Amino acid sequence: MTFLIQSLPERVETFRRHFAADLPEVAFATDPDAVDPADVRYLMAWTFPEDLATRYPNLELVFSTGAGIDQVVKAPLPPKARLVRMVEAGITSLIREYAVMAVMALHRDLPGYIAQQRSGTWQALSFTYADERRIGVLGLGELGQAVLDALRPFGFPLSGWSRSPKDIPGVACHHGPEGLDAVLAASDILICLLPLTDETRGILNAALFAKLPRGAGLIHMGRGGHSDQEAILAALDEGQLGGVVIDVTEPEPLPADHPLWRHPRVILTPHVGARSRAESGAVATVANIRRHLAGEDPQGLVDPARGY
Ligand code: NAP
Ligand code: GLV
Repeated sequence: MTFLIQSLPERVETFRRHFAADLPEVAFATDPDAVDPADVRYLMAWTFPEDLATRYPNLELVFSTGAGIDQVVKAPLPPKARLVRMVEAGITSLIREYAVMAVMALHRDLPGYIAQQRSGTWQALSFTYADERRIGVLGLGELGQAVLDALRPFGFPLSGWSRSPKDIPGVACHHGPEGLDAVLAASDILICLLPLTDETRGILNAALFAKLPRGAGLIHMGRGGHSDQEAILAALDEGQLGGVVIDVTEPEPLPADHPLWRHPRVILTPHVGARSRAESGAVATVANIRRHLAGEDPQGLVDPARGY
């Protein structure tokens, strides 16, 4: 029974330490050429070989090193194998920080003040108090809910959107295609924390932007495939969007001449919203294999039919 991991060397060493201490009954391997493929029950990587199902016929759990699994969800798995996304405190904590940073940047008009600094202009721009700035979150999973928790103390009116009904204290929750418009209409700042699936691809488009209040902010932390980047630029240029913080693009990185790099109302970061932390990721993975060995579902189990 072997756990095969392919990741950065320092991450691998942390995992090795945790497996040796807390899961010694599972062999730990890093070199695919040095293991008997039939022994590999657990595999962790960011992307997987096309012939996964035939190469590792006895796989039971396939772990993504990240929270997103769009890069692997369509890979053919052996019949018994199940896909698990990364749910661990390091990712959650970084995403909370990024969301608060981005909300504050748009709420306090950082793009406007940066432009003024560059032109040597000392002038107050308009203020909006937090209780008058409505924030909507698309995706009320592990990360969307953590972001709402982090924003709650500031007093922003909060709403959110998911596939299934939710009841979150202090958050106006809507769900399903028929619930989306209500969240958009109530989002002076909209945050995308959806998984990329057949249903959500391209969701951040001109039609959606038109349903936001005029001048709304957009914070995109999902996946590049959610957004129509030309529509973002058009909505910015005609004032329907007032500012954008974007962490994920398609492709990554954008070509050097892409206008998103230089638009004065855009803050662009290179997909750094979160990265899994080796220590807490290793603890979460060991705990998940323990759950699996005890006949329980691992945390972060993916439903291939839903695509997330
Ligand atoms: P999660 O726990 O699986 O939550 C996904 C949420 O999206 C759920 O609330 C789900 O609704 C909702 N959803 C999915 N499809 C929907 C649809 N068609 N309509 C309405 N709601 C839908 O995922 P997570 O751990 O929070 O991660 C979310 C995403 O964040 C990841 O997939 C990844 O794309 C992104 N991410 C980005 C970074 C970064 O560095 N920028 C880092 C980590 C993750 P239900 O609750 O009803 O199932
Ligand atoms: C990063 O984007 C992740 O999915 O963990």
